[in-house]
Amino acid sequence: MKIVFASSEAAPYAKTGGLADVASALPRALAEAGHEVFLFLPFYRTVKERFPELPLRHAGRTGPFSIREARRHGVRVFFIENDYYFNRGHLYGTVEGDDPENGERFGFFSRSILDALRVLDFSPDVIHAHDWQTALIFAYRKFTNGGDPLFRSAGGVFTIHNLAYQGVFEPDILGRVGLPQRLFRMDDLEFHGKVSFLKAGLLYADAVTTVSPRYAREIQTPEFGCGLDGLLRSRSGAVRGIINGIDDAAWNPGADPAIAAPFSAGDLTGKKACKEDLLRAFGFAPADSGPPVFGIVSRLAGQKGLDLFADALDLLAPLKFRSVIVGHGEPWIERRLAEAARRFPWNVGLRIAYDERLARKVFAGSDFFLVPSRYEPCGLTQMYAQRYGAVPVVRSVGGLDDTVDEYQPASRKGTGFKFEAAGPGALVEAVRRALEAWKNPEDMAALRRNGMSRDFSWARSAEEYLRLYRELAG
Ligand code: ADP
Ligand code: GLC
Repeated sequence: MKIVFASSEAAPYAKTGGLADVASALPRALAEAGHEVFLFLPFYRTVKERFPELPLRHAGRTGPFSIREARRHGVRVFFIENDYYFNRGHLYGTVEGDDPENGERFGFFSRSILDALRVLDFSPDVIHAHDWQTALIFAYRKFTNGGDPLFRSAGGVFTIHNLAYQGVFEPDILGRVGLPQRLFRMDDLEFHGKVSFLKAGLLYADAVTTVSPRYAREIQTPEFGCGLDGLLRSRSGAVRGIINGIDDAAWNPGADPAIAAPFSAGDLTGKKACKEDLLRAFGFAPADSGPPVFGIVSRLAGQKGLDLFADALDLLAPLKFRSVIVGHGEPWIERRLAEAARRFPWNVGLRIAYDERLARKVFAGSDFFLVPSRYEPCGLTQMYAQRYGAVPVVRSVGGLDDTVDEYQPASRKGTGFKFEAAGPGALVEAVRRALEAWKNPEDMAALRRNGMSRDFSWARSAEEYLRLYRELAG
């Protein structure tokens, strides 16, 4: 099949979160299955600086953008180049706030992708767009470029990676991104007096997917629906959940240059060296038989529930464990964690940074891995943790619930520990269960083995996407 992938980020070019991992690994899996995949990304300043040699595929003499091209793992990656919109020091904004031109920037990006298909003379079977940044593709397809035979018959798939980010702008944005003002009504893009880009994906794509089956159900309820649960219920026939995979070549403890020693499910000896290396990196004295280490690697956003962890520390601190946190994001959470690290220096090691090398050391060196999210569309870190033999302790929401099985000491089945309530009490209970298992080497061995041998590869999920693509294209 001929597949167009539209995303505002993809590893290794530009990344702020899991979307980048997915937009890199899924196209690769599809290409490896023999399909022709074009991936479109903005030509951000970070890309320009880190990949200065990307050949120009189309010079924008007659239009507002140029196209750069790269090839990676069988995927043709096309960058939409427009210095005004994308040659900026950020992807979406800074700690001070969102880029005030995000509406125009990503409206422009979405429209340019369709125009680029004409330039490249590529007629896809499927257009697969991700999150609000590329949702307008389906509005342009329907209302402005609709007649174009190049993609008139293409199936449209829109994937929600996070319903809380909706791309909401003032009503005049429609005119500024070249869409008709008549779309400013409730049955189209109007949302509480503003314009929601996300709605274009939800309403005009042929199928809507979420990144886990449980999240697909959750978002159709008021608790998780972010004000769109009614709309999602009305489209429930077109909504399905397909669990993310992980790129098991890029995330392999047997061949990860960032970690101290390689290890595998069959031979865990290297993990000891990784734990010592990790403790050292956080300024703790390395002691291999010492207390268990709980790792955290996270964006610091309310979603991730790390304030719950900070709140739980009064109860947790008497228990013998260490935690190491690599996080970056909202200042109020950084402050809460910094305060926790000051109050409980024995229990909490903190690095406020976006640091992939250190993140990998955390996966490799931790005994447990904590993800106390308030909601989690899928979550990748709990899968990376399982792959690296760190046992996840997670809140049972969204993809966390779908990818972690509660450990049953009697049968030694299961891969981690889950808790229901979004509060410190439930979290503490789950940590207690984890510490119970820590006391028994056979439980720990079973937990690690179960997690490390679980298949999180993309192959199966890619197959599910292909089935959907075929339904739509057929
Ligand atoms: P989300 O996309 O909501 O942030 P995911 O679990 O899907 O959550 O993906 C997060 C990705 O970003 C993972 O690859 C994780 O390792 C990475 N990551 C998050 N925070 C950091 C950080 N502070 N330093 C390095 N990598 C991080
Ligand atoms: C979003 C979600 C996360 C998911 C990622 C990739 O960032 O917050 O749960 O894993 O997208 O789909």
